[in-house]
Amino acid sequence: MDLDIPPGFEFGVATSSWQIEGDVAGRGRCNWDDFAQIPGAIIGGATGEPACDHVHRLEEDLDLLAWLGVDAYRFSISWARVMPQGSGDLSASGLDFYDRLIDGLLERGIKPVATLFHWDLPSPLEVAGGWPNRDTAYLFADYAQAMGERYAGKVDRWATLNEPWCSAFLGYCAGYFAPGRKEPGASLAAAYHLILAHGLAIERLRAAGARNLGIVLNVIPVIAETPSMDAAARHVDGTQNRLFLDLLAGRGIPADVRESCASVTDWAFVRDADNPVLSAPIDWIGENYYTVMRVAEPQAGATATAAIAQDSADIPACPPLRFAPRPPFTEMGWEILPEGIEMALRKITDHLPGVPLWICENGAAVQEVIDDSGIHDPMRIEYFEGHFRAVMRAAERGFDVRGYYAWSLMDNLEWASGWTKQFGIVHVDPATGTRTPKDSAAWYRDFLAARP
Ligand code: FCB
Repeated sequence: MDLDIPPGFEFGVATSSWQIEGDVAGRGRCNWDDFAQIPGAIIGGATGEPACDHVHRLEEDLDLLAWLGVDAYRFSISWARVMPQGSGDLSASGLDFYDRLIDGLLERGIKPVATLFHWDLPSPLEVAGGWPNRDTAYLFADYAQAMGERYAGKVDRWATLNEPWCSAFLGYCAGYFAPGRKEPGASLAAAYHLILAHGLAIERLRAAGARNLGIVLNVIPVIAETPSMDAAARHVDGTQNRLFLDLLAGRGIPADVRESCASVTDWAFVRDADNPVLSAPIDWIGENYYTVMRVAEPQAGATATAAIAQDSADIPACPPLRFAPRPPFTEMGWEILPEGIEMALRKITDHLPGVPLWICENGAAVQEVIDDSGIHDPMRIEYFEGHFRAVMRAAERGFDVRGYYAWSLMDNLEWASGWTKQFGIVHVDPATGTRTPKDSAAWYRDFLAARP
């Protein structure tokens, strides 16, 4: 690929704890373990055991990362593995696992990039009310401090949260993700407390000497398909994007969101004194980019599309509308639109000017052909090529984008979709755990090796 890559631009791959680790017995329970027990919650009845059995295959997976030649690896720490009850005592064996992971990366010359919360909340905290409960934010800060104290000198970059929109709204509004609650008012409290948790954690991490502190959002460009849908699209954009960006920018809840969600909450959980914490200075911001959202006129009987997580049930106080993604689609039903990356970066920089940007996830679930000659996923390679170009174009146009992480290193448990949707560049046989690099892994490896 002929690309003009900015100097120092970082390429990596990403994963998350619950999706790959397995070894449920070696940690405390989490909300996703409990959710997985609800019949029908996860397609095929998949659970966190064995997932990719990553805990027991750590060395092999570290060697895969080295073989790929990535600059950095973005993983998440399982709160319940290092602090089994979500508060109080740390687990020696849990810490030992992350010691080996982080040291193993450093030995191989790969930068460790750690996310502290990628959706797996220790069960006792969920039972106590989860993110709609303000106390959870303070407990998260204690956990972040403990991680900061242990890994400050080793972790290259820290993210407090991954995609708080999903935790808040898929978890507590749609009930499509753990814990499966369908309470729009509580979901807004969850969103607020997640950003509070983030801000408190930033302060504690910094005090512990940790550097390069940020957060990862899924800002999604929202497009009104007709002028008649402008107001509805504004509501979607408000709850999906501006709510989080404005809180981080110190502007509080956007005025239009306050008003358009008044039917589901009185906002009593908002405290003006929180503002400096919510907007604690960050060193970078991450964007997980997959697709855009197109808002169209409602049609009788059709609120949802085949696009996963594009459903009016996900959005508190959602007005009548229909999501109308356009082809081409990935297996998630998500429209493929590389230009959307720049639209998302623009939205972020409009709210948080001057903050360096990283694409922390991007990738696709696609049709694959498995035969004797290998695992062929040409559509994934095409997806990556299109998005690499879009990222470099954005950099040329002046966006301060400094890195790109492909989702994902390996096939894994795709949340409520279980094993039915696969994003890995390395195939994982769910029955045996055997890893086999797909064509896209070889392509990425060649691309990385060919860089000047
Ligand atoms: C993102 C999640 C990640 C994975 C991809 C497909 O929203 O952060 O864990 O599920 O989507």
